[in-house]
Amino acid sequence: MAEGGVQRGLEDVVALESQICFIDGKEGRLIYRGYDIRELAERSTFEEVAYLLWYGRLPTPDQLDGLRTRLAGLRALPEPIERILAEMPPSANAMDVLRTCVSALAILEPAETQPGPSSIGGALRLTAVLPTILGHFHRARAGMPRLAPAPDLSHAAWVLHALRGTEASELEVRALDVALILHADHELNASTFAARVTASTLSDLYSAVTSAIGTLKGPLHGGANERVMELLDEVGTPARAEEVVRAKLARHERIMGFGHRVYKVEDPRATILREWSRKLGQAKGNLRYFDLLRQVEQVVHAEKGLYPNVDLYSGSIYTLLGIPRDLFTPLFAASRVSGWTAHVLEEYQDLRLIRPTSRYVGPIDLAYVPIEKRTAA
Ligand code: ACO
Repeated sequence: MAEGGVQRGLEDVVALESQICFIDGKEGRLIYRGYDIRELAERSTFEEVAYLLWYGRLPTPDQLDGLRTRLAGLRALPEPIERILAEMPPSANAMDVLRTCVSALAILEPAETQPGPSSIGGALRLTAVLPTILGHFHRARAGMPRLAPAPDLSHAAWVLHALRGTEASELEVRALDVALILHADHELNASTFAARVTASTLSDLYSAVTSAIGTLKGPLHGGANERVMELLDEVGTPARAEEVVRAKLARHERIMGFGHRVYKVEDPRATILREWSRKLGQAKGNLRYFDLLRQVEQVVHAEKGLYPNVDLYSGSIYTLLGIPRDLFTPLFAASRVSGWTAHVLEEYQDLRLIRPTSRYVGPIDLAYVPIEKRTAA
């Protein structure tokens, strides 16, 4: 709502034109470069979607092969980053670790940091390397040896391998692949906007991604899926869902994983992830999370008329995949980096410094008082 000419939170403000992502909040549709997310989640892979976001078209088999090979060849970390990771305290926030390593990479790999079309090299490099950073950090803090990049694995399989070190089943890899596809882009969300603002000053792609990671770290953007899992811990059994949710609503608490600024119906990503939560739960003989979530969903809809968003079911999938909760948001970054960088490349193509204005509401014409005559307020 505009107040005195100010659109707080820039809600509903159209800040720029983009060909990358379209959200139809009324119909509950999400489109990447013209393709419906439901079809992409059904038929494509993360690598194919990343190609689509970066180059604006679906790849041919050769182009996809080329991208897979390039990404796989860019997974290794330079030695100084290995040393930085070895120095990180195990209690470090994993988003801080990601942000620090991306920032340090910009110093170590300056050839990739020039703004312009060649920044596609940096987009590939960062997309390839974020799972390695997460894997090394996570395994070091757990006292496990780091793993050498496995060039034969797909991006999703490498993410799972880098974290767990065990061989993942085809179903596990596909579940993560779908989650990565669904998180790859989402129009002008806060972190993408931050990346574009940075790029619009003609700063480099690594700086833009550093800004984006810092922005995604905030709990109002990333992190709701972690809180959903905490809610499930509190609920415990489906029979308690109504009591716990009602008590929270009575205290005017938000129920994580519900509601959305843009979607006025169910988030299409939630629809797809619900099915994957069920499928994976069935395969692992553990439908506990799915059953709890279904119950919570029914109560929240009956009480508040709210629909699930992408965060409601994703945490249950990651948990079933053996991914620790504090890595949920970094995993989001490992997918969204493809969208951030696609937006940065688009920004470089049609550059206009993003610099809004504010309405000044402070005093003017105050008399300057010499320091020796000032008194504490
Ligand atoms: N639980 C309870 N009530 C809610 C929720 C919720 N999750 N979401 C919205 N509402 C209620 C608000 O209390 C408000 O009610 P009121 O009019 O009676 O005061 C009404 O719905 C409108 O809420 P707003 O905050 O104005 O809606 P907005 O569109 O700004 O909020 C947001 C969107 C921030 C996502 C909100 O729905 C929320 O806090 N959800 C929980 C957090 C969450 O799941 N975040 C992940 C979003 S997806 C993503 O970022 C990847």
